[in-house]
Amino acid sequence: MAVALKLEKMISEQAVADIEHWRKKYPVERKRPPILAALHIIQKENNNSLNEPLMQALADYLDVPHIAVYEVATFYSMYHTKPVGKTVISVCTNLSCMLCGSKNIVTHLEKRLNIRLGETTEDGAFTLKEVECMAACGGAPMLEVKEEFHENLTTEKVDHILAELGVDEDE
Ligand code: FES
Repeated sequence: MAVALKLEKMISEQAVADIEHWRKKYPVERKRPPILAALHIIQKENNNSLNEPLMQALADYLDVPHIAVYEVATFYSMYHTKPVGKTVISVCTNLSCMLCGSKNIVTHLEKRLNIRLGETTEDGAFTLKEVECMAACGGAPMLEVKEEFHENLTTEKVDHILAELGVDEDE
């Protein structure tokens, strides 16, 4: 059986201190609330993504069942449980967005970035991620990038967003 690595050996001292900061905000018996913040801290340290050993080490560190960490990491689209590019473009394809044309938006993004949904550009700059409803249905179709929501998307708006991200027209 593989020996689980200790979180302290896998992330920086500062990151451990930041997780401790969050842990101390809650009563000792409330072990799960710091999971959200801790995953953010770990993801930031690990090239914008999480992996199984890190999630297991975090669960051991917080003394919670491993599944408690997996549930959070896989529920929220802001966590990436697979390696991703430097910038993740999250496109909602759930019902409202689908009815309002997310398929066209996805097709346009795929063409512009020359990747399929779920893939990362060759230079590691962008990942195109399909996400579930992000609670912005009133502005469907929508996407999120760099923690900013862009709503009522059209292909022209997508081009504008890509230009702001430094993607040239001929890429
Ligand atoms: S269905 Fe896309 S934000 Fe709700």
